[in-house]
Amino acid sequence: MPITFTAAREVPDDVELLAVPVYADLSVPAGSPVELDVGFLKAAGFDGKPGKSRALPADDGTLVLAVGMGDKAKVDPEVFRRAAARLVSWTGPARRAATTLLAAAPDVPGAAQALAEGAAMAAYRYTEFKSAKGNGAKPAELEELVVVGAGGARLQKELDRGATVASAVNLARDLVNGPAGAITPRKLAAVAASVAKDAGLTAEILDEKAIKAERLGALAGVAAGSDEPARLIRLTYEPAGRARGTVALVGKGITFDSGGLSLKTADGMMTMKTDMSGAAAVIATMSVLPALGCKVRVIGIAPTTENMPGGSAIKPGDVLTARNGKTIEVLNTDAEGRLVLADGLSLATEAGVDAIVDLATLTGAQVVALGRRIAGLMGNNDAFVDQVSAAAARAGEGMWHLPLPDEYRRDIDSEVADMKNIGRPGQAGTLIAGLFLREFVDDTPWAHLDIAGPARSDEDAGYIRRGGTGFGVRTLIELLTTFEKPKR
Ligand code: BES
Ligand code: MN
Ligand code: ZN
Repeated sequence: MPITFTAAREVPDDVELLAVPVYADLSVPAGSPVELDVGFLKAAGFDGKPGKSRALPADDGTLVLAVGMGDKAKVDPEVFRRAAARLVSWTGPARRAATTLLAAAPDVPGAAQALAEGAAMAAYRYTEFKSAKGNGAKPAELEELVVVGAGGARLQKELDRGATVASAVNLARDLVNGPAGAITPRKLAAVAASVAKDAGLTAEILDEKAIKAERLGALAGVAAGSDEPARLIRLTYEPAGRARGTVALVGKGITFDSGGLSLKTADGMMTMKTDMSGAAAVIATMSVLPALGCKVRVIGIAPTTENMPGGSAIKPGDVLTARNGKTIEVLNTDAEGRLVLADGLSLATEAGVDAIVDLATLTGAQVVALGRRIAGLMGNNDAFVDQVSAAAARAGEGMWHLPLPDEYRRDIDSEVADMKNIGRPGQAGTLIAGLFLREFVDDTPWAHLDIAGPARSDEDAGYIRRGGTGFGVRTLIELLTTFEKPKR
């Protein structure tokens, strides 16, 4: 069950745990409801840094948790996410906790939303396949967090917003953590349709016949090696009132990437159920747009298929024709993400939107360059890329702007087709993939997020949980909330 967040002006006297903020100099904000034993905190090695906490001996049965907030001047929404995550990881058997964390920075905009986000993301567990016969009981879960602060209904609204954002992140995590045998393209499309129905979005699903009829030749090509039929998911969100613009979100939906005939190694495909993280982020983001009252029209497009080496699979050297008519020589069937995105981006471009954002676990090179916490951000319009980058910073997601150098375009020149799907071995793999995608957006302002690294975490760390991370969802929501049409 998700945590319930309740706004309150005072600390209720019947809570089991009270979490209070402490700065890095071990001082506490004015008006703290409890006196803290600084000598004890010091002796215990508590340094007040974000992400740290220390339980204190209780005098009246309420457990008090000192939560580090770092330097007073540097408290920002991300500090609140991390502090709230720490508190959730520390509640032990407590079912009802209260916190005065907001007192640490009453003037930071978005603090309460961030607090709720951090708490609800940290509480996430993927238990779908944990049976009662398995080892270890489930961890005790916090049911209610009372957030003390001024603001009343306004504070409650901010908390609810944070909980909604986190619910989207957690939906994306569920989809990514679902095994490839369970989350097939058909199943992903069915989930998208059902999520859309519940949320009040329009859903259109193209099946394998419609994919061919609509000339999505690159998607059909990748799907040829699998017994599971492909799907093209299209969701539409129509805001109430006049839309502030239209944005297309395009997500890579490879539910399992074996590499195809250019087969991966056993190690290389171990985590390849993650290869639909872009699609998951798009579906999950769209699921909360009505609840958040988003003012932008949003079209979500997720081409989804398996990449398998079956008897009908495409072969290295085969040529595919994408939706926009461009031809692609497939020299490595493991560079399949850019193929399905070619069709997805063509559709988004045709729709005449104001901007496109795509998300894809696209290249191993991205993981080498930037690791598991920072996505590669590329695009054809610097102002729009900056807009995405600023949204990411506010949302607390790491992104780094990489170039799309024109002089590298020749690396994907093909002997026989308009382009080939790989560049030179070992050279700028992430940028080459970006340059490839650029061929399908014409002059529509476009940002590309290579999330190969950050889509998955190999550890629990604060609000990040091991497995699918739901990366991208928070940035997309923030971007759509503040979107301004970029100039062409
Ligand atoms: N899904 C992979 C990229 C990937 C690798 C994501 C590791 C997460 C972790 C993608 O389809 C792929 O296989 N890319 C190839 C492209 C190459 C053949 C040009 C890669 O990066 O090795
Ligand atoms: Mn691949
Ligand atoms: Zn892939």
